[in-house]
Amino acid sequence: MQRGSGPLTGALRGVLPGRTGAAASSGPSGDDDAPADRYADFARSALGRKVVPGLGLPDPAPLRRDAPGAPLAPGPVLVTGLVPVGGGDAAPRDAGAAAAAAVAAAGARVLLPGDDDGTERLGGVVVDATAARSPADLVGLVGALAPRLRRLARGAHVVVLGLDPDRLPDGADAATRVAQRALEGFTRSLGKEVGGGRTVQLVLLSGGGAAGLGGALRFLLSGRSAFVSGQVVRLADPVGDLPDDDLARGSRPLEGRTALVTGAARGIGAATAQLLAARGARVVLADVPAAADVLAATAREVGGEPFVLDVTSDLAPDRLGERADAVGGLDVVVHNAGITRDRRLRNMRPDAFASVLEVNVAAPLRLTEHLLATGRLHRGGRVVGVSSLAGIAGNDGQTSYAASKAGVIGLVDALAPRAAEVGATVNAVAPGFVETRMTAAVPALNRQLGRRLSSLGQGGLPVDVAEVVAWFAEPASAAVNGQVLRVCGQNLLGA
Ligand SMILES: NC(=O)c1ccc[n+]([C@@H]2O[C@H](COP(=O)([O-])OP(=O)(O)OC[C@H]3O[C@@H](n4cnc5c(N)ncnc54)[C@H](O)[C@@H]3O)[C@@H](O)[C@H]2O)c1
Repeated sequence: MQRGSGPLTGALRGVLPGRTGAAASSGPSGDDDAPADRYADFARSALGRKVVPGLGLPDPAPLRRDAPGAPLAPGPVLVTGLVPVGGGDAAPRDAGAAAAAAVAAAGARVLLPGDDDGTERLGGVVVDATAARSPADLVGLVGALAPRLRRLARGAHVVVLGLDPDRLPDGADAATRVAQRALEGFTRSLGKEVGGGRTVQLVLLSGGGAAGLGGALRFLLSGRSAFVSGQVVRLADPVGDLPDDDLARGSRPLEGRTALVTGAARGIGAATAQLLAARGARVVLADVPAAADVLAATAREVGGEPFVLDVTSDLAPDRLGERADAVGGLDVVVHNAGITRDRRLRNMRPDAFASVLEVNVAAPLRLTEHLLATGRLHRGGRVVGVSSLAGIAGNDGQTSYAASKAGVIGLVDALAPRAAEVGATVNAVAPGFVETRMTAAVPALNRQLGRRLSSLGQGGLPVDVAEVVAWFAEPASAAVNGQVLRVCGQNLLGA
């Protein structure tokens, strides 16, 4: 795409705060799409790099986002077990061995503890902590990570592997549960320490297997998860089948699949449609009649099909069904359309409150139930909701929005088991502060706070949310169901 040339770029140019035509650029997925963030520009300057760390100010280091042909990690990936105090065998257990195999299969060089001479910059670290059976065992995390943190390349990602404390094997004792639950606090805290655009996540396994671990690591170690940090991903028994050809699919894991994205004319929805299409999907972009022109332009740029649809209209379920039939059924549905009508409750009008609930959660619920009931979601289907940090933490002046976005989490909880019966998954993303028209309307001070009060010290881009949606949508994510993943740079709100 030409710099600043296409209609999608044009659609996006006006929606980002403080941007000029010169600053606008090549679509929703590149770093150069970042809006004017003057503090970030200063912090990244020669003077800022001297001043910012010394004053303990937020460090909005450039993020390592995915790019065509980019390696999995910016250096070798160390895969280690817990390191016993006083030394001893730090070799990873079964989960770590599976991780090492997956990392190698994804084309990265794996370093095992015995091969690590302590000199190389590390592009990532995977710590297998599944062997922790008591709080005392957790001290092994210090030996596994502390000496290596200074060698982490900028933008390196750390993944801790644990066991899901809620799904431990029969007979597991309380000390095991305590130790495995403790990993969450460890991971979230380390995420706040690492800086330099680095991220830290916890992946919890259950049922004794590592099904789906490869797909999760390919996402969490790569630049695709650049704006996700301090999060917990649970892997369970795969819903339907895990593909055996996912590596062969390379950069187009969605080839042969059809996706529908609502609210796709602009912002996060447009970026999602663009990314799903780039990953191989046939994409239908839906938006309200008032946005029809922009929608058509975005769809042209994405190479998708426009579908004028107000998700709240009485006819929406039937019209969606007809459209689904016309494209041979749907594999991926992304309920991205959303609105705000912010006011403190004392000033709230019932009709405004109702409209937020209707667009943000009632319509997605109705449409998903309709698709499931009428069999229009294929086996292997993926439904992705868009929640929000406000739905987790609440926000002053956002009772309606936060209620609707917490409701999206309820939708995931309620429909994931039902979808699993037909081999499909239901998950949601919960974005934090993302630079779009919605957040451009936020007062300047709050906008600064929204960006800075996070471990990564900056707002996200629409593509960061799109990446998580695309990961949920992949066939290789069959072991991820019923989850809400925050994509917020580890925002301190609701942390
Ligand atoms: N931007 C953020 O920081 C942020 C944070 C958390 C969550 N979110 C959520 O992400 C989603 C996208 O947000 P955005 O910032 O790109 O918003 P946006 O306002 O830029 O885009 C929303 C799109 O939804 C469409 N839409 C609204 N009502 C609709 C309806 N009834 N039927 C069909 N389409 C409809 C709009 O026309 C618009 O194109 C929303 O659900 C929002 O709540 C955004």
